[in-house]
Amino acid sequence: MNIKFRSVTEDDLPQFKAFLDEHNMLSDSDYERLRIFLHKNPLLSKMAYLDDKIVGGVLCSYDGLRGHLLKLVVEEEYRKQGIGKKLIAEVIMELEKLGCPEVTINCRPFLQNWYASQGFEKLDYMFYIKYLNSDHKDQSC
Ligand SMILES: CC(C)(COP(=O)(O)OP(=O)(O)OC[C@H]1O[C@@H](n2cnc3c(N)ncnc32)[C@H](O)[C@@H]1OP(=O)(O)O)[C@@H](O)C(=O)NCCC(=O)NCCS
Repeated sequence: MNIKFRSVTEDDLPQFKAFLDEHNMLSDSDYERLRIFLHKNPLLSKMAYLDDKIVGGVLCSYDGLRGHLLKLVVEEEYRKQGIGKKLIAEVIMELEKLGCPEVTINCRPFLQNWYASQGFEKLDYMFYIKYLNSDHKDQSC
């Protein structure tokens, strides 16, 4: 299978948003926020694709101090073939070019082992969030 990887651009937005929607990663109101996110963080979000079909993706931002990964997902039938690992590696390569010293992810407990296998260390700190819009509960990682 010839899976390719590249940065998500604003032109990819309709298809990429549809991909994230299929995996319940975004709410309907998020299109404009996602456009702003991509605009502010060029090159950092990546997608895996096969011909015209998106089979995996991850969003990433860098605030100048730290990188933040979110919404990593690989289409179910394409999992366990190294796509998730390669998406993370592609993002890390971009962060390193920017001189970013560390990258975080807030993941669901069932993905803890996977992130540990990718070299992420679990911290003892509690993660707090204050929802400014209650519609975003359950959509935050
Ligand atoms: C987590 C996820 C992205 C992994 O993607 P993937 O393409 O299947 O992962 P990879 O094939 O790159 O996995 C790399 C390694 O992890 C292993 N692995 C895969 N899934 C694993 C799991 N659930 N737990 C532990 N290890 C796992 C693979 O065997 C592989 O090991 P190897 O390097 O020794 O061969 C994918 O399972 C997924 O999309 N899950 C749902 C995502 C989700 O719900 N996200 C919510 C937002 S955080």
